[in-house]
Amino acid sequence: MIRIYDNYSLKHFNTFGLDVKSSFFLSYDSEDDLPDVIFKLKSLPEPRLHIGKGSNLLFTKDFNGTILHSEIRYIHELGSSAHSVDVRVGAGVLWDDFCAFAASHEYYGIENLSYIPGEVGAAAIQNIGAYGREASGVIQSVEVLDLASGTFRTYSNRECAYAYRNSIFKKLLPGSFLVVSVFFRLSKERKVDLEYGQLKELKEIGHVPSAEEVRSKVIEIRKSKLPEPSELGSAGSFFMNPVVSFDKFKQLQEEYPDIPHYKLENGVKIPAAYLIEQCGWKGKSCGGAAVYEKQPLIIVNKGNATADDIITLASCIQSSVNDKFGIEINPEVNYI
Ligand code: EPU
Repeated sequence: MIRIYDNYSLKHFNTFGLDVKSSFFLSYDSEDDLPDVIFKLKSLPEPRLHIGKGSNLLFTKDFNGTILHSEIRYIHELGSSAHSVDVRVGAGVLWDDFCAFAASHEYYGIENLSYIPGEVGAAAIQNIGAYGREASGVIQSVEVLDLASGTFRTYSNRECAYAYRNSIFKKLLPGSFLVVSVFFRLSKERKVDLEYGQLKELKEIGHVPSAEEVRSKVIEIRKSKLPEPSELGSAGSFFMNPVVSFDKFKQLQEEYPDIPHYKLENGVKIPAAYLIEQCGWKGKSCGGAAVYEKQPLIIVNKGNATADDIITLASCIQSSVNDKFGIEINPEVNYI
């Protein structure tokens, strides 16, 4: 079934909780609805934007166009071998419902990605990541509908061109396509990645932890550090962690010997949270927007933030990090 609303509030479709409106909002339940979606779109205004739960979006103003939302919600096991299982998941499934499904079946590969807000379709576009794992590690392919031609196309993992919080889909025109479903290959082998931060504590429990045990720990860590979207609006990390050249890093380390860092092949990744904290932003506000006390990479809506408050705060943070460290930090959040 398809539902179309006009002058629709997006308050529940952006995790900042901004009360912006869209001229039209179209949601659909199943793949059988897609021909009709294409037909209906012909008479609805452009631009178009397809969204998940809006956990990575900042609506800078009302959206004068049509927002699309998938409610295709199935998790189908396609087949399995002794070592792995293939699962096809509808784009509208809540990402964490899929993580809960995997953990309860003892399927491995996404336990570290537990409790990330958002939906499966958006997770495949954004290449969500946490605690040393990224969605791209388990995605086999992504099934996409091109809205102009009405044709389906399956992008293999390679064709998705995954990188840190990036994919080919971010280069396509927003609203020109929609993700129908995502194919995952999960492992049946109890092999977990406990190398990141507090997850190391699980190495001490005397056995290799199960997917459920890792999931519980990840949820505990996330709850202690990140704001609960239902209580305090935010879009998770507002900025990406910058990667600087080896030369630049050497220079920084001379001045800031304790600077946290992760060496990569192409440079050195510095936690933006550190840079922002060093600039004195922790807990600071701009109108109703504030830098989260427990994790300065996050901008929160204290309740009455406007999009302008968030934009102003973000750009002040960017300027001060640039002035102090000579490093450009870029939003992970997409400005609409
Ligand atoms: N740090 C500080 N001060 C703080 C907090 C952190 O200096 O108050 C420094 C510390 O050195 C710490 C480092 O930042 O070791 C990393 O912090 P954390 O482990 O919290 O991770 P992050 O780099 O800030 C990234 C992701 C998160 C993900 C975590 C865990 C990005 C943009 N963010 O944050 O993803 O949950 O790692 O893997 O890559 C998201 O994308 O919305 C998100 C929450």
